[in-house]
Amino acid sequence: MSDSALCYAAKIKDAFAAAVVNFYHCAGRKDLPWQQPATPYRVWISEIMLQQTQVTTVIPYFQRFMARFPDVQSLADAEADEVMQLWAGLGYYSRARNLHRCAQQLMEKFGGELPADVPALTQLPGIGRSTAGAIVSLGFGRPAPILDGNVKRVLSRVFCIDGWSGHSAVSKRLWQLSETLTPQAHCGHFNQAMMDIGATICSRRNPDCATCPLSQYCQALQTGKVASYPQPKPKKLRPVKTFNFLLLQDRQRRILLERRTHKSIWGGLWCLPQIDDNLRKDAAPLYSTLHQLTHFTMQIRIYSVDALAASHQVEATERQVWHNFQSIKRLGLAKPMQTFINELYKNTSTTKGAHEWSIVKS
Ligand code: ADE
Repeated sequence: MSDSALCYAAKIKDAFAAAVVNFYHCAGRKDLPWQQPATPYRVWISEIMLQQTQVTTVIPYFQRFMARFPDVQSLADAEADEVMQLWAGLGYYSRARNLHRCAQQLMEKFGGELPADVPALTQLPGIGRSTAGAIVSLGFGRPAPILDGNVKRVLSRVFCIDGWSGHSAVSKRLWQLSETLTPQAHCGHFNQAMMDIGATICSRRNPDCATCPLSQYCQALQTGKVASYPQPKPKKLRPVKTFNFLLLQDRQRRILLERRTHKSIWGGLWCLPQIDDNLRKDAAPLYSTLHQLTHFTMQIRIYSVDALAASHQVEATERQVWHNFQSIKRLGLAKPMQTFINELYKNTSTTKGAHEWSIVKS
């Protein structure tokens, strides 16, 4: 990291850790079921349950789970169905399958104990780096950084970290900050308090900066930008789909229009006849424009065909009708078609044929 955020973190780290640990003693949560007692097994199960799930939802599930599976052995020996049953309602069921597989691997490879280091833990099913850090710090009382959703939000505000935390570069910065700030002493209290600050004070929508123990360090607060962090996942660019249409005009300067089928986009509206994408490479559209829809961007291309001589060959059908400027006004036209036809009549003198129209737009 270049950069000023890490330098700033290194400078304030002792005071920052003291403020966080002090918060733990004054206001941190100490009576959550997995804290009484906080064994590595209980911390592990609770951390998996707490992924994407609120504390209040988790508590009864945790209690039922512990009553039935008090240790790694009982979980490893269980039928998969029974584990799933106890999970039913919590969601994200791969978590339960991984928990069960993990218990079996702990029996096979670690004598039924959770390993006390992050690299060994992250080899196990369902245990990522932050969960491993929580097990090590909260369960074993040894120092290890964490970076769950709550901590990400706190750090991205305190240090004004730009970008979405799902981007690897942004996640790397946040991890570096967490590593820098996490103290060797009282790490479990520090981590618990960071999660609690994120969950109860530094909430996404309604942060209570007035009571936050980190307000004096918070760059987002000091610059009036708390609401701008954390930055959201960037919206996906809408895919561009090309739609080709034909402009056919007859001797009376009528235009061939068709009513769209109900299955297609603009179902029931009138439109120039649509053709497929199988066009000659050198075909140049008379008109082209972009039209934004919810899920994609339409690239509209309109090709003119000189139908002055050929109108007798282009028969009207039930769906395809020759319309003049007056009768078009009474039709329900797709918006971009209306725009195009308005332009067309505005720009065309009575003597010109379709092939001479020159309103190309991109
Ligand atoms: N979210 C994840 N881990 C947590 C914990 N130990 N306490 C409260 N909320 C949490």
